[in-house]
Amino acid sequence: MPNTTIPNTERVTSGIPGLDKMLGGGFIPRSAVLLRGAPGTGKTTFGLQYLIEGVRRGETGLFISFEEFPQSLYRDAASVGWDLAALEEQGKLKLMFTSPQVLLHSLNQPESSILHMIQQADTRRAVVDSLTHFTQSISGDHELRRTYHQIISAFRREAITALYLGEEMRTDYTNREKGRLSFIVDTMLMLRYLEIDSAIQRAIVVLKMRSSAHDTAIYGYTIGANGITVSSRMEGKSGLLSGITRHSIISTVQ
Ligand SMILES: Nc1ncnc2c1ncn2[C@@H]1O[C@H](COP(=O)(O)OP(=O)(O)OP(=O)(O)O)[C@@H](O)[C@H]1O
Ligand SMILES: [Mg+2]
Repeated sequence: MPNTTIPNTERVTSGIPGLDKMLGGGFIPRSAVLLRGAPGTGKTTFGLQYLIEGVRRGETGLFISFEEFPQSLYRDAASVGWDLAALEEQGKLKLMFTSPQVLLHSLNQPESSILHMIQQADTRRAVVDSLTHFTQSISGDHELRRTYHQIISAFRREAITALYLGEEMRTDYTNREKGRLSFIVDTMLMLRYLEIDSAIQRAIVVLKMRSSAHDTAIYGYTIGANGITVSSRMEGKSGLLSGITRHSIISTVQ
């Protein structure tokens, strides 16, 4: 267990069994968390699970989607046992289907309905699915960076711990990353498919976490009837994230 600079009692629990331990207790309140992963790795599921955890703790959540049709989101959530419509009716969760432009505009307007709703509901957790959509509508690197800053600052200002989903960028998180999002966020997690012994496994790693120690090991995870669960640590291997795996023994160290 890593040492932490902020007591666990002040952490925001992720709702993903096994992950808080990797994070030194959970997310830092008001921080910007980026979750990157290839298609189908479970980003949307992770986001919903994070909000459901908030509901369990009496914290209102906001899910902003640029990509899912509402019905498919409700259906996907039902497959892991979450009734989003019921939570919406109870005022515990708000789902918003909008465009990147409308979100950006609204967060910059003090009187906007989104900000009003966030404040009225005392929203503590938010998920944006996904930030990658901004790269499609904004071409300039500088403008993209400014946009990311605006969104992240707006949620932080509202005391929200925000989870931003994004498509994976393989390995290069430095100069060539458009908008340099990895530098702006406080915490970065990655979901990956790994080929091990001719089979595909799912892996999760915490790449960065400001203000905290964190576990740097790569862990497996599963998606099942209760959503995402972190499983065993992948040991005895090297080169996992580069895609060139060199050993073939996985132990089950937790
Ligand atoms: N009830 C379930 N049991 C087992 N696996 C499930 C279940 N529900 C979803 N999955 C798995 O989760 C995957 C999709 O998860 P999700 O939609 O969260 O991924 P994503 O990363 O958001 O995908 P995309 O990039 O397409 O938006 C499916 O490919 C499926 O393997
Ligand atoms: Mg998704």
